[in-house]
Amino acid sequence: MNTKKNFPSDPTICVHAGEDRHGRSAPLTTEIAQTSVFTLKNVDELRRYAAGKADVYLYSRYGNPTIRAAEEKVAALEAGESCVLTASGMAAEMVTALGICKAGDEIVSMLDIYGGTIKLFNNVLTRCGIKTHLVPFTELGKLARYFNRRTRMLFLESPTNPTLRCVDLQAMADEAHRRGICVVVDNTFATPILQKPLQHGADVVVHSATKYLGGHSDLTAGAAIGAKKWIDPIRTMMIQSGGCSDPGVAYLLLRGMKTLEVRVERACINAFHVAEFLREHPKVARVMYPGLVDSPSHPIALRQMRDFGMMVSFDIKGGGSAAERFINALKTWYLATSLGGVESTVSYPLLSSHVGLSKKSLRLLDVSAATVRLSLGIEDSADLISDLAQALSRA
Ligand SMILES: Cc1ncc(COP(=O)(O)O)c(C=O)c1O
Repeated sequence: MNTKKNFPSDPTICVHAGEDRHGRSAPLTTEIAQTSVFTLKNVDELRRYAAGKADVYLYSRYGNPTIRAAEEKVAALEAGESCVLTASGMAAEMVTALGICKAGDEIVSMLDIYGGTIKLFNNVLTRCGIKTHLVPFTELGKLARYFNRRTRMLFLESPTNPTLRCVDLQAMADEAHRRGICVVVDNTFATPILQKPLQHGADVVVHSATKYLGGHSDLTAGAAIGAKKWIDPIRTMMIQSGGCSDPGVAYLLLRGMKTLEVRVERACINAFHVAEFLREHPKVARVMYPGLVDSPSHPIALRQMRDFGMMVSFDIKGGGSAAERFINALKTWYLATSLGGVESTVSYPLLSSHVGLSKKSLRLLDVSAATVRLSLGIEDSADLISDLAQALSRA
């Protein structure tokens, strides 16, 4: 009951009663500032906001203390100066591209990037007059051929989805920087625990925080991280185009990130055991995992990653029908088109991330009906392997 103020009527009571700041000890966790707008004490405070003082908040789309806390944690993890949190990974990529490029500029990227990013480049950014060239993985050594005087941004992803091929970030960044091109890396699969692209030549890192950063499959968010000179214009694009995060989501993200390091460590161990198991299995044609010493990506992963990641893909013998029987027989692994949660999940690229792609594109991407992708969670690896074994026996 609010006893301090005597409100005259129900409509006013509805709005104002009980909303005083209640006296209490400081909470240990960062609070959810669940508000769209902030009240200011007076015009002087508004003046402080207008002068860019960081402790004054005006409107949650522009900035919010819970969102700021999550931004600072992500920036610190990526060893970046600044971070802007967004409504999703796609929103982060969109505002990053718009913060760096304008109409008439061009982007160079890889054919192997996340399918949603390809759609953003081909279907959305083209409407803003920004054109993208997608380089096949085998051509990345000849990257310079794809650059021209209009190229403003190089967009990379490593490890790739679903074949988990690693890109030499420093070599690609050096090539781009010789021409003054901004280098952006999608670090969703590796997480900053395993790979810090800003230390390997990247100017901006983007994340689908929906995945490992959040870690519990219960939020959708994105982030862009880098020096203030890059992030300030990206933040302006976020504010002006509206793809902001939400304080409740930022709270979940903050909570998820507290366990990021231990989750990643456990999931990496699980991935290693699963990859070793699959490699020896007679029904498995090939295993894609940068931790295998005979993987072409192994030397690059050793150079730029702390461990080899939480994803393992493989081709099953018997093609598409065997892949379907295998997936349907799994009991512990969820069939889910995402990754990065505490639960181990399986996905089938042909009918999800790579649906509708031509035979030629699939060949270039090295993906077929036999390809299955696994995202390792934090369960016990023996339980996960025994479920894989029984499902393979039914495939
Ligand atoms: C590597 C990668 N980048 C970006 C995205 C897009 O993220 P979101 O779904 O949060 O928009 C995804 C989503 O699967 C992804 O896997």
